[in-house]
Amino acid sequence: MHFTLQQLKLFESVSRNGSYTRASEEMNITQPAVSIQIKKLEEQVGLPLFELVGKKIFPTAAGKTMYEASCDILARVGELKSSVEALKGEVKGPLQLAVVTTSKYFMPHLLGTFLTQYPDVTPKLMFTNRDKVVERLYNNEDDFVVMGQIPEDDRLETYPFLENILVPVAHPDHPLATKKNIPLQAILNERILEREPGSGTRQMFDRVLEKKGLKITPYMELGSSEAIKQGVMAGLGLAILSLHGLQLELAAKKLVILDVESFPLNRRWYAVHFKGKKLSLAARTFLDYLQVENKMLPQVSDETLFP
Ligand code: PGA
Repeated sequence: MHFTLQQLKLFESVSRNGSYTRASEEMNITQPAVSIQIKKLEEQVGLPLFELVGKKIFPTAAGKTMYEASCDILARVGELKSSVEALKGEVKGPLQLAVVTTSKYFMPHLLGTFLTQYPDVTPKLMFTNRDKVVERLYNNEDDFVVMGQIPEDDRLETYPFLENILVPVAHPDHPLATKKNIPLQAILNERILEREPGSGTRQMFDRVLEKKGLKITPYMELGSSEAIKQGVMAGLGLAILSLHGLQLELAAKKLVILDVESFPLNRRWYAVHFKGKKLSLAARTFLDYLQVENKMLPQVSDETLFP
């Protein structure tokens, strides 16, 4: 079989995206060019790799086998490239990370300062919820991932770095805003704005309730912490949010932290990859950087938490 790495990359992109159009956008070439290369690949394999059902394309049995092989080959090529770069001692090249949405309040800042030191690193950050980050981790799609709640799996290497403090928040005019020692049960009688199932923040809150034998019926589900924060500021309800994303709003007194039983939750953020994973020099350097760089830590005084 004669095929090129570029054909394999295109094939991998079409399979993953389930679309020629999306692959052509991702790979920055025209859609007819993608079709031609996939056709050439099929000629080499001697079997069709995709079939059209309705308006969607699906991999054939040969396509599935080819997909597995192409992921392996492309991962090996990636490793080879980074080993060569590591031998040259150069911190450069791609840095592919999947990070939970809540980390958008600090990851870009950490990456920004890192890149001023290592401008030849080309980062790609995928922000998505915890469930999807876990899926990407198990598919080995990234150099490493960042999340607040790590799966219980002793095959994983985990690196704690920043603190992750979760707090209940409300509009300053909310009747509970001035109350002390609010029982957990009391906030369940309020309108609660919750993240979508699959969110790590939601899971953590659910666990706190579970421990007390409580359950919540969310008033509203919103797919991002930012949307929830806006909802709380608009007086739609209460929410549990990570303190990282609240600094400006707390300082501007647009939000207040409630003094609720079991809160604040003091957690950590973790970088995670599989044990034995060969990290590129760029990924290794960024991982080390995360563990020493704590300047983005929110300065949490008791006064902030319990004014
Ligand atoms: P989330 O994850 O952004 O999906 O809520 C946060 C976490 O993992 O702690």
